[in-house]
Parts: sequence; structure tokens; C-alpha cells
Amino acid sequence: MIPQSFIQDLLSRVDIVDVVDRHVKLKRAGANYVACCPFHGEKTPSFTVSPTKQFYHCFGCGAHGTAVGFLMEYSGLGFVDAVKDLAQSVGMKVPEVRSELAQRKAEAGDDLYGVLLRAAQYYRAQLKDAARAIDYLKRRGLSGEIAKRFGIGYAPDGWQNLAAAFPDYNAKALATAGLVKVNEDHRRYDVFRDRIMFPIVDVRGNVIGFGGRVLGEGEPKYLNSPETPIFEKGRELYGLYQARGAIRRAGRVVVVEGYMDVVALAQHEVEYAVATLGTATTPLHVQKLLRQADEVVFCFDGDDAGRRAAWRALENSLAQLVDGKQVRFLFLPQGEDPDTYVRKAGKEAFETLIAGAPPLSRFLLDELASRVDLSAAEGRAAFIHQARPLLKPMQSNALRVQIVREVAALSRLAPEEVERLCELAPMVTRTRTADPRSPRMPQAPLARQLLRLLMGNPKVASTLSSEQHALLSSDPELAPVAALVELLKNSGATSLGVVFEASRDSNYADIYEAVAGETLLAAGSEETVQADLDGVFAQLELRRVQSEYTRLCASGGHSESEQLRFQELKRRLAELKGVGTVNVRSQI
Ligand code: UTP
Ligand code: MN
Repeated sequence: MIPQSFIQDLLSRVDIVDVVDRHVKLKRAGANYVACCPFHGEKTPSFTVSPTKQFYHCFGCGAHGTAVGFLMEYSGLGFVDAVKDLAQSVGMKVPEVRSELAQRKAEAGDDLYGVLLRAAQYYRAQLKDAARAIDYLKRRGLSGEIAKRFGIGYAPDGWQNLAAAFPDYNAKALATAGLVKVNEDHRRYDVFRDRIMFPIVDVRGNVIGFGGRVLGEGEPKYLNSPETPIFEKGRELYGLYQARGAIRRAGRVVVVEGYMDVVALAQHEVEYAVATLGTATTPLHVQKLLRQADEVVFCFDGDDAGRRAAWRALENSLAQLVDGKQVRFLFLPQGEDPDTYVRKAGKEAFETLIAGAPPLSRFLLDELASRVDLSAAEGRAAFIHQARPLLKPMQSNALRVQIVREVAALSRLAPEEVERLCELAPMVTRTRTADPRSPRMPQAPLARQLLRLLMGNPKVASTLSSEQHALLSSDPELAPVAALVELLKNSGATSLGVVFEASRDSNYADIYEAVAGETLLAAGSEETVQADLDGVFAQLELRRVQSEYTRLCASGGHSESEQLRFQELKRRLAELKGVGTVNVRSQI
């Protein structure tokens, strides 16, 4: 856990304009900066960065967030890594409260990165003098340029070549990294011998492992690094580091099975391909990819093994699907893989295949339908039975509704019956991870208006009077507002960006996130904020006084205290009616 106070400190020191500008060239436009949005394809800039709010927002696709969020989205980094990167850029060190295990891992980790980088450099240098290896790569159609781009190298034949690359061949990290093993005589030897070396690189460009291919025939064809504290196969994708820019430009990523497929596709200018590392596609993989592109296309061989692997990829994608994102499945002609296909048929033909690849829903329904006899009641019942475990993990969004409809039609049921039989959670209108416990966005315009005013101008939170506080706690609908005021006062946040990060752990984080996007739309001049805020509070009070007044009238209040209260309310009502509405500008 990184302490919240550190994140706020950090955000007050970095400037989101610098951070974004390092990756996307920004142009000044009035008080803000703009650029063409890096998260969706567009020709006119609707991606806006506000230096005062320390926040970005794209009016085209709705992407928004702080400098931390930007790095997460843009570089595909996790929260902690994004914070670390930012901290490093301003010379701050992230204070981390680590478990002992995590500490050991980190220490081993630093060491491992260095060892693997050195090995990669060594293998690359060896390739230059290895005519056989160069010849092999050439025969497979690869240019020197592509070999360089992927850092491809060669591990020469021989048992202890790495001794020449490392000052201490017996260092523990060499074994942990999977570069050496120990034989029966307790002597160390190199694991990779006479192989083409494909370095596996994480999204920040660190070498974290290798895949080594024999030249020509031989077993095993590929030898892979073991999993280590810094290399988890279910998390990493080969080629993602090199493909990131192309993925963003294309709005699409193709997932293939092999190292050579990625490299061969890049050689033919299909640069948005990545590969899983000899393992099944995991939900984490899918999540990582959908963060960077709206469309993920899984590409498999057309044989039975390919279809089985595709089905596993489908199962692991279901829970990750949100509206606006799509997953498709491309099956290549029998006997082809992306490498052989693109070399034979070329880029255009490959992209035509991609364009015609069936979407996940089609694959799902066709596959299920092919397993049963839909003309018999038993077959249709079995169909539902098999659909259930697939529909259940899906988020309740528009895509699920569509699939449920098709399942219903095929099984001759009503969609509601399918939902009931499959025990699906009811449809909600949110597109993010559906958590039934998380609170809903307040519908009341006044509550939303308050949220926008406060998030956009955090400093005013400390100016609220005790009456205003009391108003906030009198209405359950205003609970997110009351919580936000507390959060602002405690954090001393001064910009929207800081508020946004500070509210990540709040119960109302989803609400705040949605509102944060809206606040950039606000003209929000500083001078009017206080007046606007008072105006909204006046309206809230008006509403409260009005309802009390009505209640008192209805009860016919005759006691002396009731009479007094009656007069008081009447006076307050008159006052508020005069003032209340005047100050509420339509500033949002
Ligand atoms: P393939 O057997 O389909 O190889 O394995 P390929 O990618 O077509 O390789 P080339 O074209 O013959 O060079 C696909 C992936 O499965 C893993 C590797 O990650 C490989 O890229 N694999 C395969 C292994 O890990 N070990 C093996 O022995 C074979
Ligand atoms: Mn191949």
C-alpha cells in the first residue's frame, strides 16, 4: 500500500501537462491544452488537459483521469508502477510498507533485471558473428531491422558461454533467472545452447525472460525461462512492449500463439500483434489488452487444438467484457499459422481475414449450438445448461442482453426465462465492474451539482457553515456529497486531480469518477464558485423548509410551539424564495 498522503504530495509536484506532453504532443487552447486523443482514433483534437485541475478528459471517448491514470492507460502500467514512474520523474521515492516476502522479492527482482539485461545484450552481440543463426533468421524472412526491434539474439553452442558475460558465473541470480542449471557433479551449465533467443520484455522495457528456439529441427523446439519473481506467464504478453503504439493507432490488438508469429507479422507491417507465452490466455491478459484497445482479436490455427485454445480464451474473456469493447476470433486455414500465412498471402490478406473474424457472441452461440440437437426439447435444455456457466460471469451489460436474446430464440424461451434459468443478475446501467453493493449515482440534480462544484474547487469544502453541514447530513441522497466534503477537508486537496486520487478507496469512488469527467466541462470561474455553492445550498434549504412547512400545515399545528415554528418557516420560506434561485447559475 502506498500511503494516500504520498500520492497527494506526488500529484502536487508533477504537472499533468508535462506528463502527458512527454507522450502526446499538446497544444495550448485557452486555459487548457489539447491533442488528438491517444485512446481512440480521431482527426480533430478533443483530448483536453487542464493545468489548473490537473486532470485530463477526452470529449470524444470520455477517457479521463489524473497523471497517474494517464500513465496507467497509456503505458498499460498498474497503479503502483504508474505511481513509481511518476515519483521517479520528480525525484521522489515511494515509501512502501512491504511484507518481508515482498521485500525479498524486490531485492531478488532488482538483481534479476540486471542479470537478464546483461544476458540479452550478450546474446544479441553473439548473433552478429553467428552466420548459421543469421542465415536461419533470413530464411524465415526476417530483416536485421526486425531482429533488432525485438532484440533477437543467439546463444552459442557450448556449456559455459555465459561465464564470459558475467563476472561471477556462480551468482545466485543466474540460477534464479533460469539461465543456468546444475549437473550431477554440481557444476553449472548454460540452459540455452545453440538457440535463437527471443527476449521477453515487460511493458516498461525490462527483459524478464527468454524463449529460445532450436535452429531447424530438434526437441524441445522452444525452451522458455521459468517463472520468477519478475516473470509470471499468465500476466505477460510477448511483443506488447514493441506493439503498444501500433495497438493504439489501430485501436486493435491481435493475439497469436508464437514468438515467430509476432515477429513475422511485424515484418509484414502488422505491428499490433502479441503472443501468449505457451500458456492459455488468462483473464489478466484480456484485461491488460482491453485496457489498450477496444478490440481484441484472438488468432488460432483452424485445427481442433486451435479451437480448444480459442474456447479457453473465450471463457477467460467473458468477465472482462464491457460495452464498447469487443473480442473476436480468427481461425486460420488448416495448416497455417500467422507466420506462414502472412508470408504467403501478405498484410492485406491477413487484415481481410481479421476484418471478417466472427465476434465472441457468434463463436459462443455457434459452438454451443453445434454440441446439441436444437430440434429436440432435451437438446434445447442441454443448450441452456451449457450456456449458463458462460453467461453467469458476464457483466450485466448490453452485450449480455443481446446474447441472452439469441440464446432465448434458439432455445424457444423468453429472455426473462433464460435469465431466470441461468440465475443472471438483473441488468444495471453501469458499464464498469458490476458490484451490487456499490452506491448509485445520485439522480438529484442538486446533489450532482454540489459534487461537481466541490470536486472542481476542492478548497471551498472548508468554507461550509455548520448549517450547510447539517443540511448535507439530513438527506440520504446527499451522503456522497457529505463524504466528499469530509474527504476534501481531511486531505487538504487543492486540485481535481488530487481529489480524484484521494477518492479511489471511497465507497463512492465510482460516483466521483463519473463526476470528475463532467467537471472539466464546467466553465467554472473561480469567482462564481462560492456564489454558486451558496445558491445550491439555498435551494436545498428551500426544499427542506418547504417540506416541513407542508407537513406542519397538514397536521394543522395548533400548539404554541407549532405556531412559532410555523411563523419561522414562513419567514424563512419568503427569504429563500427571494434569494435561493437567483444565485444558481447554469454554470455546469
Ligand atoms: P508452435 O509449435 O506453434 O511454434 O508453438 P511456432 O510458433 O509455429 O514456431 P515456429 O514457427 O515453428 O518457429 C507456439 C508457441 O508455443 C510455445 C512457444 O511459446 C511457441 O511460440 N512452445 C512451443 C513452447 O514453449 N515449447 C515448444 O517446444 C513449442
Ligand atoms: Mn510457426
